[in-house]
Amino acid sequence: MLIAVGTQEPFAMPEPTVRLLDRTPAPDDSVCRATDPVAIVIFGATGDLTARKLMPALFNLHRRGLLPERSAILAVARRPFTQEAFRAMMLEAVRAHSHIPPSPDEWERFAVRLAYYALVFDDASAYAGLAAALGEGGEARVFYLATDPAFFMPIIENLGRAGLLPAGDPAVRVVIEKPFGRDLASALDLSRGVAALLAEDQVYRIDHYLGKETVLNILSFRFGNAIFETLFNSRYVDHVQITVAETVGMEGRRGQYYDTSGALRDVVQNHALQLLGLVAMEPPAVFAPKEIRDEKVKVLRSLRPLRASQVGREVVRGQYVAGAVEDRPAPAYRAEQGVDPRSNTETYVAMRLLIDNWRWAGVPFFLRTGKRLARRTTEIAVQFKQPPLHLFTTVECVGDVCDISQAKPNVLVFRIQPDEGISLLFSAKRPGMLFQLHPVQMDFFYNQAFSAALPEAYERLLLDAVRGDSTLFTRSDEVQAAWEFLDPILKAWSGPKPPPLHFYEAGTWGPPAADDLLEASGATWRNR
Ligand code: BG6
Repeated sequence: MLIAVGTQEPFAMPEPTVRLLDRTPAPDDSVCRATDPVAIVIFGATGDLTARKLMPALFNLHRRGLLPERSAILAVARRPFTQEAFRAMMLEAVRAHSHIPPSPDEWERFAVRLAYYALVFDDASAYAGLAAALGEGGEARVFYLATDPAFFMPIIENLGRAGLLPAGDPAVRVVIEKPFGRDLASALDLSRGVAALLAEDQVYRIDHYLGKETVLNILSFRFGNAIFETLFNSRYVDHVQITVAETVGMEGRRGQYYDTSGALRDVVQNHALQLLGLVAMEPPAVFAPKEIRDEKVKVLRSLRPLRASQVGREVVRGQYVAGAVEDRPAPAYRAEQGVDPRSNTETYVAMRLLIDNWRWAGVPFFLRTGKRLARRTTEIAVQFKQPPLHLFTTVECVGDVCDISQAKPNVLVFRIQPDEGISLLFSAKRPGMLFQLHPVQMDFFYNQAFSAALPEAYERLLLDAVRGDSTLFTRSDEVQAAWEFLDPILKAWSGPKPPPLHFYEAGTWGPPAADDLLEASGATWRNR
């Protein structure tokens, strides 16, 4: 703006030093819409995962307009179904498992994209028909292996033989569900087999924990704020507790699978170690797939290896016996459908880990997971060291009854689920003439701070696979590093003198032996 002042030279108004922020609306999820045409081929289309997670996630992506205009879903399984029968089955699944049931119109528009193809996974001759059904190509292709892991390699090999996996073509991707192997040797075998036919950037190993909003928030919280990250190291942190506690058991349908797996393979190898990676990793140079995964791998490689002779001391395994969960009677694991009545499979694992790197040297990380525990809760609690001198008395009151207690440490809790959010525990002066401290809590709850619902993990991950973004998928060296750490535990458990299997009553917080793990560090589990 120019202002004429008398006869003098026009005077130029200086620009304001503080500029108002642009008033453009914040970008919404539609900027993540996939645009290139895509064919999504799901192997294992009649299985539990497809019904509970994949089909509802694809339907919701479609409903929100995030799938490309030209996208098709080809569902593949062994049993013959007519197109109508298969679509009706999927409609039931989506009604049962999607947070908003589909309207007839919405379903109609989705169902035209959905087709069924019957094929025996290990019958190589059947894949020419699949190739013909898929047509000429030209679109991106996502092959999703939601099958028993025994079929992973036969399917990949047969797709390769049928010319459906052009090596090195990043538009052709294979999504592999866990488990990635049963131990180090089988994981390496699988990796070698896959690498012979596919480039690493064509392989998307899915771990649905990495699609959870609150898991991703660990990175945003740590690296998007300045105040806490400076405290995340051995100088200030006393220990870290990672808990993945479930109240469910085998639900009448999972016993057969679970009995061949156990908690270590089912949750520790993947979800729990991913949480560890995110809370312990160094900041990546940029927020990009390679850099983020490099940092997570470094954490796994820094885990202090366990010798077989240490397993009994550092790792506790348990199995539930009959009890009551949330006031309902729960049978013993060995009485669950599909479980061997003499099974020694662990339904609970707790362990103490040390990360031998500059940041975390000497800080114990305690990790536990289990079925049929007292409460469903997944959280990471970072417990800080106490101040060097206790100047005040701490008092803890429940109602009007107060007790003098020990000074309470500061704890930062990432609540992954439920009650998604973050809490900070600290001490405040109790009102009154006395100088007494009382533990208090500062809370952030997602559902209070934001009006938008948290997206489903599978929705995000499926969309990423369709868009070719591998940031949230696990790389082969990451899988290998996790198995390298866990392999001595599996070996000790299956060896001639295995450490004991501790029993715990369903509905409790696990075997008391797990408490001893923390005792040496003067800590106790946060059972809440
Ligand atoms: C799966 C395990 O990967 O994760 C299940 O196979 C477990 O046993 C589940 O129950 C937990 O996932 P979430 O999302 O319910 O915490």
